Amino acid sequence: MADATPEETAPYGGGPAATAAAPRKRIRTHTLQQMKDRGEKWTMLTAYEQFTAGIFDAAGVEVLLVGDSASNNVFGNETSLPVTVDELIPLVRAVARSAPHALVLADLPFGSYQASPEQAFHTAVRFMKEAGAHAVKLEGGVAMAPQVKLLTDAGIPVCAHIGFTPQAEHNLGGYRVQGRGDGAARLIEEAKALEAAGAFAIVMEMVPAPAAKAVTEALRIPTVGIGAGVDCDAQVLVWTDMLGINTGRVPRFVKKYADLHSIMLGAAQEYVSDVKGGAFPAAEHSFES
Ligand code: KIV
Repeated sequence: MADATPEETAPYGGGPAATAAAPRKRIRTHTLQQMKDRGEKWTMLTAYEQFTAGIFDAAGVEVLLVGDSASNNVFGNETSLPVTVDELIPLVRAVARSAPHALVLADLPFGSYQASPEQAFHTAVRFMKEAGAHAVKLEGGVAMAPQVKLLTDAGIPVCAHIGFTPQAEHNLGGYRVQGRGDGAARLIEEAKALEAAGAFAIVMEMVPAPAAKAVTEALRIPTVGIGAGVDCDAQVLVWTDMLGINTGRVPRFVKKYADLHSIMLGAAQEYVSDVKGGAFPAAEHSFES
């Protein structure tokens, strides 16, 4: 990045995970737009703490989502509904401190933005000021357009989320594909309203691939698919699903890239056995007098 201007590098060079030898530019919303314009796909993964954030950032994942899926992946809840703003803020802060390159996207949890654009504004400001988020995500279609407009007018980039929206699972009758049949036209309408309100990207969850393709072609801004086929401009997965640390039921749209559960279980079992058998600590792990 020999030709980078000081403005492009200055705020990011001193972060804990950056090195003087390899300064990298922060991904911005316009970077993601330019990638769509060039027909280049980009990636998003969830992250909830510093080590996964650092690893995914180093791997080149463009956007780290501190999802409200932390509710069931960090806090042990059954759904995403119970997690609070106060619980998510420290997670967002840890991810933002540990990712020198990726755009850090904070999910607004259930009940923290739906009541009014003003409520959304105050919640989003907390994530930006207290946690260092670069953008926020909220669920919902046309009804959320006023929230998206107020936030973007105030300088807060917003990623919208349509199709299956987990915070509305009780209203939607559980985990079900959205946008089948006539629903496809409705999805396009929702997406266009969110784009017009100023959203910089739209996540589409559990949407038939042809409908997601139609939405993607109808929009200028990038779409991010999760269970929405190959034609979205970007893809997102929940890391605990795709790296196999979660042994519970995972949706069929997840590809499992590793089996961290087995690796960690095996290592912990070996440790237990070493301690009980006297093989750990060995001389090299002990201090001499
Ligand atoms: O909270 C989350 O992890 C999400 C993804 C499923 C997109 O919203």
